[in-house]
Amino acid sequence: MAIYFNEENKHFYLEGKDISYIFRINRIGFAEHLYFGSRIGREDMTYMEQVGSGAAYVQMPNERNQCYSFYNPELCFYGTGDYREPTFSVKNPLGDRLCRLHYTGHDIVEEKPKIKSMPSLSGAQTLILHLQDELSLFAADLYYTVYEEYPIIARRIVYKNNSQNNLILDRAYSFALALPNKEFDILTLCGAWAHERQMQYANMHRGIVSIDSKRCSSSSILNPFIAAVSKGANDEYGEVFAVNLVYSSSFVLKSERNADGKGMLLGGINDFDFEWHLAPGDELETPEAVIAYSNEGLGKMSRAYHDVYRDHLINPRYVKSNRPIVINNWEGTYFNFNSEKLIEMAKAVKGLGIDTFVLDDGWFGHRDDDSSSLGDWFVYEKKLPGGLKPVIDAVHENGMKFGLWFEPEMISEDSELFRAHPDFAIGVPGRDRCKSRRQYMLDLTRADVRDHIVNTVNKVLSENEIDYVKWDYNRNVSDNYSLSLPPERQKEFAHRYVLGVYDICERIVNANPDIFFEGCAGGGARFDPAMLYYFPQIWTSDDTDAEERTKIQYGTSICYPLSTMSCHVSAIPNHQSRRSCSMKTRAAVAHLGATGYELDPTLFTDEEKELVKEQIKAYKEFSHLILTCDLYRTENPFEGNFFGFNLVSKDKSEAVFTCYRRHHGEELVKFVYARGLDPEKKYYIPERDVTLSGATIMNAGLEPYFPHHDFATDIIHFKEVK
Ligand code: GLA
Repeated sequence: MAIYFNEENKHFYLEGKDISYIFRINRIGFAEHLYFGSRIGREDMTYMEQVGSGAAYVQMPNERNQCYSFYNPELCFYGTGDYREPTFSVKNPLGDRLCRLHYTGHDIVEEKPKIKSMPSLSGAQTLILHLQDELSLFAADLYYTVYEEYPIIARRIVYKNNSQNNLILDRAYSFALALPNKEFDILTLCGAWAHERQMQYANMHRGIVSIDSKRCSSSSILNPFIAAVSKGANDEYGEVFAVNLVYSSSFVLKSERNADGKGMLLGGINDFDFEWHLAPGDELETPEAVIAYSNEGLGKMSRAYHDVYRDHLINPRYVKSNRPIVINNWEGTYFNFNSEKLIEMAKAVKGLGIDTFVLDDGWFGHRDDDSSSLGDWFVYEKKLPGGLKPVIDAVHENGMKFGLWFEPEMISEDSELFRAHPDFAIGVPGRDRCKSRRQYMLDLTRADVRDHIVNTVNKVLSENEIDYVKWDYNRNVSDNYSLSLPPERQKEFAHRYVLGVYDICERIVNANPDIFFEGCAGGGARFDPAMLYYFPQIWTSDDTDAEERTKIQYGTSICYPLSTMSCHVSAIPNHQSRRSCSMKTRAAVAHLGATGYELDPTLFTDEEKELVKEQIKAYKEFSHLILTCDLYRTENPFEGNFFGFNLVSKDKSEAVFTCYRRHHGEELVKFVYARGLDPEKKYYIPERDVTLSGATIMNAGLEPYFPHHDFATDIIHFKEVK
């Protein structure tokens, strides 16, 4: 039992692995937070009730002449003397925004209810707390799912209009999470194209620290992740309260710290340019917030996210099965290819261990560059005479499966689709639209546009032998407007757009269960848990340079498991950074995820072919750890000259430790201290031909054998000896 309710004192105890989350219904009927953190007993809660600071005085009507002190709320509502950021805001028919959500009851259910319109985690016992305003009959159901196997609680809110009037929400966050009165830094994952998910810290000062997206995508600029991290915390030590939103559109996540020093995390759908109309009986489901707690630094938090996403989010059919090892033609040819070239490339990788050939952008319409043809999902006969079949046949003859690139949400001005249906593109009538990467976007808030996409993409998938799809998304929304919405509902656009994305994913991805789908967004600009629900792996970044990738993959691993990161070996000098790293280093870093090669293999020397063959063989030997490991990050490339990932099997019987040194000159002698091994077990280290105890390896350390050049790697294996 993860959830326990004490009828007498109206306390709710939510007990996940190592954690307690406790709140009560106070004497005037509000849900009041008492505690969240490391597991504590249930018996001391009377004490917790008494230690409220009295900082936010609220005089409630039924507490005449007596100030009632809000210790900490489960959600905040404006207009009651609580001046913290409200969790929601609703306009009543009189124009006022007052709302006091009182407890009206609760349910504890064994099976977690699904969000109808959006991806969410599966499994585990769930508390549904019913709150309602007595006067307006506006209501909110607060969902808390508690996982006994991980220090994780998933939260969301469903807002409901139980009245006979129309109500308008102009803020509808998913959660508010009270923090203890301690000093924290705020960790977020920021970036840009080719520079995704870099670790960024800010002081959690008095006032608000806020990150958001206004792009109708989760974006490379700021990932939908925020964590309050105790000062000086690292991967092993310190306290972490983290939130990751299962959402792919415009979001906001904030920390707020008050006069009394107490803090709160909150957020959900971005309330910038947002309104939602609730007719009588309507409800709005908000995206799920996955909350993790760790008292052993960021490492434990990351492992909790990795576990819960592998067990409860990513498609079970693919999550722990070997991933395709691909050859992708993009950086090898860009748009400049034809059937003959593709067939030569397929022949060139025969026997190397690569199992899937992915044909990237440029196979459709009359696409010779990025100015045309998006939306015209039929074969470009000039490049591919006779269609895809001759190429697919050649790929099969060379022992591989075939994958194909699409960008389903887009439309080019120069396309048959745009000429026939200019209104399908997002835009305000009479106003020129903004182009980005020389393309427009399709209005996915419209059912007819979604039907068109589903039919055309599914037609290509059903008419050809396709085993793999790369689903790209190369620009963000501008000109936000939908012809399907009346003027007063245009502020629903950003959320409705992503509901449209989820709808077409259901009808394309989930309707083709035998096809493996990889997500992509001009690199990794839509790398979020909701996308992982459809795409077991996502292209991590267009920057394939190993040095840049150490940071991008380290930052991405803060929330997302290694198996979700698509990582390719590419040619040198690297096309994005112009840097040249050895083949050994490029493979060592690209093999820390779902791997592949993205270059022209017809240019391989015999020696390179042998090397690639060996590297893939070695990858296959430890790829089960990519799919299932506990990740222990050692050296942090954001802080120093080194990078270290130790991938440890769940039973601690084996591990593979990838060490990387950026610059040769710094610290020629360097010891690394693997973590996550069993101190009592003995491990054989083939690279050193020595057997040592886990305790010795972790405490006395090992010296990696870095070759004498910049951007060098060493890979060390640990195998239990019984
Ligand atoms: C994006 C992707 C690349 C490639 C190109 C094709 O940039 O991230 O991998 O597919 O589009 O246009």
